[in-house]
Amino acid sequence: MRKSSANWLRQGYNKLTRAAAVGKDHPTAADPKQQNFPILEGHPAAQQHAQQSVETFDAVKSQSNERSLLMSKEFKIYRWNPDDPTRKPFLQSFFLDLTDCGPMVLDALQKIKAEVDPGLTYRRSCREGICGSCAMNIDGTNTVACLEPIDPDPAKPLFITPLPHMFVIKDLVVDLTNFYQQYKSIEPWLKTKRRPEEGREYRQSPEDRKKLDGLYECILCACCTTSCPSYWWNPEEFLGPASLLHAYRWICDSRDEYTEERLQAVTERMQKLYRCRAIKNCTATCPKSLNPADAIHKMKAKHLTSVHVEKSES
Ligand code: SF4
Ligand code: SF4
Ligand code: FES
Repeated sequence: MRKSSANWLRQGYNKLTRAAAVGKDHPTAADPKQQNFPILEGHPAAQQHAQQSVETFDAVKSQSNERSLLMSKEFKIYRWNPDDPTRKPFLQSFFLDLTDCGPMVLDALQKIKAEVDPGLTYRRSCREGICGSCAMNIDGTNTVACLEPIDPDPAKPLFITPLPHMFVIKDLVVDLTNFYQQYKSIEPWLKTKRRPEEGREYRQSPEDRKKLDGLYECILCACCTTSCPSYWWNPEEFLGPASLLHAYRWICDSRDEYTEERLQAVTERMQKLYRCRAIKNCTATCPKSLNPADAIHKMKAKHLTSVHVEKSES
């Protein structure tokens, strides 16, 4: 194998195999599809990404061994430059040797930017699925590029385009101003009417804290909101799944004392919440395995019945 393929080991594979070794229940480690990553328990999307990543590594390793040559993969990337507004957007092809590139799509973008075209523009920061900035559409699905393994099949080009139905600023960067304004409109902070007991902090029981699981983990990547047909057609009125998930997160918080006001605020105009038609694209695409459609459903039920419905099923 080429010396440079050691990059694979450095850039993710070791981490994943170390994660797999944390637990003892990985009897079928030879088959990545069956491999269990205990450290990622409760996070099905991350489990799937980890399995795919190991699979990709194995495929690249065996194919490059067999052929003793480069494993070239085509990346078709959306390009548009505001400095050249007369030129229409187009897909530009880049070819990378997969044995000399990290396992994730963000690694490929970083390599292209560093070695081929420094003008390629996209957002990224953490490369750990935490900041949400590298959200884009990869092979037709909204996701964060740092968590999406490269499909190692050299016969299939990989398509990378910006988040859909958004104004493009340049290449893969979209304008998220409206998205953040809507997030701000739900007042995503703790609101209380009294000082905390003992004057220090607002306490919460473990049971009440547990109600926030599946809500607080949102990284505001906007994958869900930009995959929602209702949002595509009504981005001014409809708050979209990400902001609504956060609205519900604060409505559920036992320490917050503005529950009714919050519920009233998201329902004062029907379009804000009830534009959701329960299509569930949002839940299908969330790279953090969250369920915004369920949060919206529970918020609608809470509004319609004015009773606690935390235990209702979606
Ligand atoms: S469930 Fe609602 S918010 Fe989610 S994609 Fe469908 S319409 Fe949009
Ligand atoms: S709910 Fe999921 S897809 Fe939507 S913004 Fe949060 S992390 Fe991203
Ligand atoms: S770079 Fe932070 S989520 Fe991808």
